[in-house]
Amino acid sequence: MLTHKFGVSLLWGIGLMALVLSFPKMAEAVEIDRISGSDRIETAVEVSKKGWPDGSDTVVLSRANDFPDALAGTPLAYQENAPILLTQSTKLSNATKKEIQRLNPTNIIILGGSGAVSHDVEAYIEDEMNLKVERISGSDRFETAALIADRMEASGKAAVVSGENFPDALSIAPYAAYRGYPILLTLEDSIPAVTENRIESNERNYVIGGTGVIPNDVEEDIPNSMRIAGSDRYETSRAVADAFPQGSADEVYLATGMDFADALAGSVLAAKTDDSLLLIEKNYVPNPAKLYIADKGLTKFTVLGGYGAIDEYVDTEVSLPIQLLLVNKQRDLPSTYVPAELEEPNVPFPFDYEHNKRKMNTIAVAHLEALFDGAERAGLDLYAQSGYRSYERQKRIYERNVEEHGEEYANRVSAKPGHSEHQTGLAMDVTSPDVDYRLVEEFAYTDEGKWVDAHAHEYGFIIRYPAGEEHVTGYKYEPWHLRYVGKNIATYMKNNDRVLEEYLR
Ligand code: DAL
Ligand code: ZN
Repeated sequence: MLTHKFGVSLLWGIGLMALVLSFPKMAEAVEIDRISGSDRIETAVEVSKKGWPDGSDTVVLSRANDFPDALAGTPLAYQENAPILLTQSTKLSNATKKEIQRLNPTNIIILGGSGAVSHDVEAYIEDEMNLKVERISGSDRFETAALIADRMEASGKAAVVSGENFPDALSIAPYAAYRGYPILLTLEDSIPAVTENRIESNERNYVIGGTGVIPNDVEEDIPNSMRIAGSDRYETSRAVADAFPQGSADEVYLATGMDFADALAGSVLAAKTDDSLLLIEKNYVPNPAKLYIADKGLTKFTVLGGYGAIDEYVDTEVSLPIQLLLVNKQRDLPSTYVPAELEEPNVPFPFDYEHNKRKMNTIAVAHLEALFDGAERAGLDLYAQSGYRSYERQKRIYERNVEEHGEEYANRVSAKPGHSEHQTGLAMDVTSPDVDYRLVEEFAYTDEGKWVDAHAHEYGFIIRYPAGEEHVTGYKYEPWHLRYVGKNIATYMKNNDRVLEEYLR
């Protein structure tokens, strides 16, 4: 495989040694486990083996290739202490059949009608495997979810999610399951009667997902509602994890937010082990998940699904969640985000007043000081000009740029609030007396600029917006903007001519 990232991937073949080389600081602290099979059906089997090593009385069976009937299945599976297995529609998949035999259950609960799991599969289980089959099947996904709710012990609470897509249902699944809340489904323009019926007397209905999937006027018809949402599936996933803290809390399950199968099977296990589950992208850990991992200090990860679902690069990212935040035109930080610890590096600034811009994220401070020591040893006159910025400050800077240069040019040189790396505290703009301490392209031609270009990586910094990369980074050349990513990654990027967008994708 052609690797575009340094990290575990590049050195995969030499196992633990690779981890030690790639993450000299984090290696001992981070444990990454992966539950996967060669496809979604086998991944569900592996989850089942892990969670139910001694078998189970009940197994929940759902179709492998579509989500509607399975969306609400996790809370029932958890109540019955049953794994969720997946099958082809028309034939009981072999791996699943074998796992059912190993589990040695007495009951199988099939979710959905014969279009989802065929009569043939049902007949095979009853007649050939001699197991009792219960089918929970409504006339549509909404009724199937309602009938699943009827099979659960009353809790007076429920989660209401969009029935038209799966991410928000998966986000809430382990948490709802653990608490005994059924998951009920709604449409975007109205609440189906079967759902309304099951939520009308509840003391609390948690509405999961933003107004794009469940608009406010639909929420108004949901009694005792409380909305838990972010601006996309990944933010919603984090918001749900925050709203429903799980007991053991040091471990988190990670599943793709792009498909339903792995998270569905894994959600019952996450509920069973009382752990959180976060949705991530196939080849990237979104900022909401990174910030959650850092906030909670999580060090144990169970990745659900094979490398086809979530590639190995995410291992590096969960190990260094803050260091590898990607903040650019597409990826932002919450407006309330402030780095956990800010500190002023002991380096020269061309001004002497107190200001937050003197500060950096603590994890970068010693490295910036070392870089400045290196520059001084080389006889150079390097100055720091601008480090951490709050959302509000970035907003003022951006607005001033728009006023002075117009929006189009401003967008080439200045980030919109929420989208600046300076908000991470990992960036420092540097300059020198030769360019009057300004942040200008000519800095690149000064001795200080040339030294920074040649040596920044040795201290863990990259020149974040190199010349000729505007089409990738979105910004004009900034030879002065240094970003801390750590020595190994900075060196890899320097040697391979990669910008951060290329490394983290
Ligand atoms: N000048 C960089 C892109 C920023 O505003 O963060
Ligand atoms: Zn900058």
